[in-house]
Amino acid sequence: MNTASAPAKLILCGEHAVVYGQPAIALPLHDLRATATVAAAPAGSGITLAIPDLSPEPIRDPTHPLLELVHATLDHLHLPPGDLHLTVQSAIPVASGMGSGAAVGTALVRALADWAGVLLPPAAVSRLVYQSEQRFHGTPSGIDNAVIAHEQAIWYVRQQPAPLIEPLPLAVPLSLVVGDTGIRSETRLPVGAVRLGWQAEPARYEALFAAVGDTVRQIRAALSGGDAGMLGDLLNQNQQLLEQIGVSSPELEYLIGAARAAGARGAKLSGGGWGGIMLALANDPTHAHQIAAALTAAGATRALPVQVQPTTAY
Ligand code: PMV
Repeated sequence: MNTASAPAKLILCGEHAVVYGQPAIALPLHDLRATATVAAAPAGSGITLAIPDLSPEPIRDPTHPLLELVHATLDHLHLPPGDLHLTVQSAIPVASGMGSGAAVGTALVRALADWAGVLLPPAAVSRLVYQSEQRFHGTPSGIDNAVIAHEQAIWYVRQQPAPLIEPLPLAVPLSLVVGDTGIRSETRLPVGAVRLGWQAEPARYEALFAAVGDTVRQIRAALSGGDAGMLGDLLNQNQQLLEQIGVSSPELEYLIGAARAAGARGAKLSGGGWGGIMLALANDPTHAHQIAAALTAAGATRALPVQVQPTTAY
């Protein structure tokens, strides 16, 4: 039996505009993970995938996106589809902006590679998971699978023929808080609405995307200079642009307001929006716990203090 895991992720800034070629920054959340195991199964039983948290019956349908990913991975590893029993367990909330789909996919690919005795480089894992993400999202930028497969803070630009993925050095630790509205929102819905908006008013949306890109470049400078005050203001600026793009929601803005009232230096939605999660920048870990308590009091279904260390591969 072989087991592997993969972390959740957080988009620090640049979501949505990243689909249109602007840069974005994402961080892995090491303590929140999806785990996959692969075990030999009785001859003739084929490939089954058990996700006990989601369904009592194992998945056998080969057109299920996760089983398609399993087949694509076996193919990539030059292994015939044999008799395998796969199990997935995940602590990552689904459809909330924390990359649960990409983390489950990455854990499965890693476990299968381990089973085959092959060390797959992160870029290969990321490419396999991207194909599967396309089934869930339609037009994903690829940032989720990239940050999860590389497991380090990244600067990401969607471009042809391959995305630009750079490890991002941070000058100081970041104390963040993730607050969950508890409203599940499928990423493809706000992504689709933004596409319609862009098609209807291209000049307006392109100006908004470019403004997000400028903000993200300034955030990179603030991160490498360790300027937390500037970083907070820039996160707020990114939130304002996301509101104009049309992907915020009253529930997100309520939690963002509660975090700012508790002294957060900045706060914004994170991920697809219309629900899911927001993040807030705290002064230090103690402050992060205070903001988390304020978010819980304001109705967050989960409030998670996160400490991001100032190394490239933490
Ligand atoms: O909802 P999430 O965390 O999967 O993030 C989506 C990020 C978007 O920029 C909105 C879409 C994408 O594919 O990059």
